[in-house]
Amino acid sequence: MSIHFDAKARTLTLNTAHTTYQMQIAEPGHLLHLYYGSRAEGCLDYLYLPHDCGFSPNPYERHTERGWSLDTLPQEYSGSNGGDYRLPSLALSTDSGVVGAELRYVSHTIEEGKYALSSLPTAWDRGGEAQTLTVTLRDEAAGLTVELLYGVYEEQDVITRAVRLINSGSQTIRLERAASACLDLPFGRWDMLHFHGRHTLERQSERRELMVGTQGIGSRRGTSSHQHNPFLILCEHDATEDHGDCCGAMLVYSGSFAMEVERDQMDSVRLVAGIADEGFSWQLLPGALFETPELLLSFTDSGLTALSQRFQRFLRRNICRGPWAERPRPVLLNSWEAAYFDIDAERIRSIARGAADLGVDLLVMDDGWFGERCDDHRALGDWTVNPQKFPAGLGAVIDEIRDMGLSFGLWVEPEMVSEDSALYRAHPDWALRVPGRAPTLGRDQLVLDLSRAEVEDFVYETVASLLRAYPIAYIKWDMNRSLSDVASRALPPERQGETAHRYLLGLYRVMDRLTREFPEVLFEGCSGGGGRFDAGILAYFPQIWCSDNTDPIARLSIQEGTSFAYPYSAIAAHVSASPNHQTGRQTPLGTRGFVAATGAFGYELDPGRLTETERDEIRAQIAAWREREPLLRAGEHYRLSAPEEPYCAWQFVAADQSETLFTLVMRRVESNPRPLHLRLKGLDAEACYEIVQQETAGCALAVPDMSGTVLPGSALLRGGVTLPPLYGDYPGIRLLLRKQ
Ligand code: DGJ
Repeated sequence: MSIHFDAKARTLTLNTAHTTYQMQIAEPGHLLHLYYGSRAEGCLDYLYLPHDCGFSPNPYERHTERGWSLDTLPQEYSGSNGGDYRLPSLALSTDSGVVGAELRYVSHTIEEGKYALSSLPTAWDRGGEAQTLTVTLRDEAAGLTVELLYGVYEEQDVITRAVRLINSGSQTIRLERAASACLDLPFGRWDMLHFHGRHTLERQSERRELMVGTQGIGSRRGTSSHQHNPFLILCEHDATEDHGDCCGAMLVYSGSFAMEVERDQMDSVRLVAGIADEGFSWQLLPGALFETPELLLSFTDSGLTALSQRFQRFLRRNICRGPWAERPRPVLLNSWEAAYFDIDAERIRSIARGAADLGVDLLVMDDGWFGERCDDHRALGDWTVNPQKFPAGLGAVIDEIRDMGLSFGLWVEPEMVSEDSALYRAHPDWALRVPGRAPTLGRDQLVLDLSRAEVEDFVYETVASLLRAYPIAYIKWDMNRSLSDVASRALPPERQGETAHRYLLGLYRVMDRLTREFPEVLFEGCSGGGGRFDAGILAYFPQIWCSDNTDPIARLSIQEGTSFAYPYSAIAAHVSASPNHQTGRQTPLGTRGFVAATGAFGYELDPGRLTETERDEIRAQIAAWREREPLLRAGEHYRLSAPEEPYCAWQFVAADQSETLFTLVMRRVESNPRPLHLRLKGLDAEACYEIVQQETAGCALAVPDMSGTVLPGSALLRGGVTLPPLYGDYPGIRLLLRKQ
């Protein structure tokens, strides 16, 4: 059992293989948080000495103990308006005048298996690996029952959290804030590492020491966003890739979120994460239930790489589901950068012929195939095949493509509607819109109100009927604007604060229905690239288009930032044309191949424009990728370079340490460079490794062939390797080493 209740100390302790999480039920029922860190035994309440720090008030029942304050003691799920002035987790009001939230312990249960939420995606139990702790608290004055849920994955060193709020009274409760979790880290000097960006430059890492006060990340966009990923790391100030305490927190949610961190007057740190409360409110009628999104937590004392590997493994095994979660992914070729909107039967046929000749598995027809869609100003919502572009119908083209030995994939953007569309003309009230105001347009489109049941059914039917009508093996599900004008014509004024979250609930229901009904279809998430790259999407779609930026050099930092939490099998990456369409940069085809060679690999170019030499090179890239696919999809990933280095280097190591693929790409070249020296990671120190293959890309000067070299694992790990200097435009080198 990884969950223990000590009746004497009144502690609830969650143990995983390497970590301990502990809380304590204090008199008269406050649930204190005692500890989250490396494995520790016993009751850790001795850490908190009574201390009256002034202006930190005392709960009524303990007012004689001036040193006992909710404002200074770590809390498991902080209330509001009750003397803890740090970040609240819960805020509410009622018609009888109750304001704020004050929670007291009622009971707890410990069960085998993992809890699930009825309305939101959660991590799943692959058969007996998780246990659930439910701690029931109550706000008596408001009539609210709060169930704190904890899923404990012992082997994986992951603890999940979520909250169920039940109106067990007789009056309506207005939830104004309902966080997924609160985590107090009372001691230590912490840095915050987070992943920010913008369209075509997602998930750039930034690390800074926590300042006193509140700081944080979040999204107000109705999506998790390009700008901030719902994942952050709190790490010891001197933690590195290889050592130091690191705590990661990730929301399993795809909508507006807030992850706030406060360093308080005592240098105690509190993280509160959940749905963004700005614009949010929820009417909880008597008997009703509200569930918060799940938060994934992991802690390690072994540095950032170990933390990343845990999240990568956990997302791959326990968030992704369905037959595609751990299957080799097809090598695809997507028509977007090959043809943009200039797509029709003839064009897609010719792209498909080229793709088949390259050895690609799957041809994806991107935007432009439906309604009057000749550009991005119109037709979203009109999901019927354009008869001028496809006079013999889509089925005929798909048959031809399948006869070429390719499977077929299709792009859709079903959450949207163009003003210029038959759908909008028929149902103007289906779009999110504030009455009396002209709506804000994004890419000339409006967002369908997925909080409405009929819209939810329409979105489901749009995709389901395509999948029923045609032999489609893959769907790219796009979403190309942030939400604005968030108001629903189907909700009364006092419930408008529910619209954004209800949108997500509708979306998840649609994704759930489709993926259950069509389990063999591979779905790829997309939101203008990586604008909705999160665990909520991954619970349904096992891969996500990482960025609309396909420039391999820009992709280095995008993919590396993404790797801090997400498995490479989820990160879709394609080789595109040079000069690159987003940056104009010219790069060698080999380097583009090195960078895109991840678990979800493909191409985004017109094969008709390739030279015969390039075609041969691409055939070789695909063959090499297929051979290494298991290593790339399920191997352990190591980051080997810091962002300030002139190069980016990484490594995949097989679980049994039998082989490793090392890749290095120069971000910039220098004359008379310092030695290119790195230490390899994750190898068996007792074994010897042979460089069985060396590949180079874009090297202007010959690079000595090191293949055949045999070196002890201990030397590679501790002494490292010194590589010959690489000269040229964005050159790279890739080495495959095998244990002897
Ligand atoms: C944005 C996506 O990220 C692109 O890959 C492409 O599918 C376009 N939308 C199509 O409009």
